[in-house]
Amino acid sequence: MRLPKFVKIVEVGPRDGLQKERLIVPLDVKIELIDRLTAAGLASIESTSFVSPKWMPQMADNAQVMAGIRRRPGVSYPVLVPNLQGFEAAVAAGATEVAVFGAASETFSQKNINCSIEQSIERFAKVTKAAAKRGVKVRGAVSCALGCPYEGEIAPAAVADVAARMFALGCYEIFLGDTIGVGTPGKAQAMADAVADKVPREKLAVHFHDTYGQALANILAVLERGISVIDSSVAGLGGCPYATGAAGNVASEDLLYMLNGLGIETGVDLDLLIEAGNYISEILGRPSGSRVARARGAGSARF
Ligand code: HMG
Ligand code: MG
Repeated sequence: MRLPKFVKIVEVGPRDGLQKERLIVPLDVKIELIDRLTAAGLASIESTSFVSPKWMPQMADNAQVMAGIRRRPGVSYPVLVPNLQGFEAAVAAGATEVAVFGAASETFSQKNINCSIEQSIERFAKVTKAAAKRGVKVRGAVSCALGCPYEGEIAPAAVADVAARMFALGCYEIFLGDTIGVGTPGKAQAMADAVADKVPREKLAVHFHDTYGQALANILAVLERGISVIDSSVAGLGGCPYATGAAGNVASEDLLYMLNGLGIETGVDLDLLIEAGNYISEILGRPSGSRVARARGAGSARF
């Protein structure tokens, strides 16, 4: 098995995780969570989103989150922006990295950002142009990369097409989202290979929700294909309210445990990450979604 020596973990819990909570998590808890994730050694923490508060009330405190967190030099705190309005608000709040988010499914694009794929590309072009002028880095998401809650199977060629268009706009990295967590390792490899024909592999990342319990297997499969940037969510939080039935992202603790076991470096401290996950799980009043955190909590031998 040929695997990378280093993997960059992009922690998405404060955004993808907390956007899915029915109750709005208090501002001070969001800030404490992000600060704990910074302390755990993560190099990139997706912190909030600058979207319409009518569509996503859970993220309405975006500017206060950005103002309240203690930023560690060298750590990136990307935020989601759907359009130029969100970009301007994010930059005014101090963001130096943003992520635009499109989809490989026409119906999901309409449901999630209220426009067609074509219109979304036009909006993203305005964002990447403004970002280039301000020296702001832009990541790009392609949702429904392994299936759509409305359209079912999505062809790898459709994912590759949207990914290539977003890369051509100037996104420095494209993350391929299994929004509803239905993919399996063979499909994940085929999709990654199709995209890699159009976008360099080292510019690709993956973002797997774990609805069907396949996320870690899918990650191992794409690590073998030379992808070394992985999104994950502390305590396995997450899901998109516009993707019915989507479970949380792969838990960061479980991903890190696997990478540690493979001898792959990340710079992240497992104990501090577990503490951060337990902190937010206690506040949410439910057991952590991380198997590793639960095993440790139940007194399992320390591996
Ligand atoms: P729209 O209603 O078509 O927008 O929504 P509009 O341009 O017609 O404007 C309507 C109103 O929204 C106006 O306000 C605008 O000012 C306001 P009003 O005049 O009615 O008071 N507005 C905004 N306000 C704040 N920030 C903005 C903004 N833009 C317009 N940026 C829009 C279009 C894209 C705004 C909306 O559909 C939206 O906010 N969608 C976001 C939905 C969302 O957050 N989904 C979850 C994130 S994606 C995800 O989880 C998947 C991912 O994890 C990857 C994966 O798992 O695959 C990334
Ligand atoms: Mg997601």
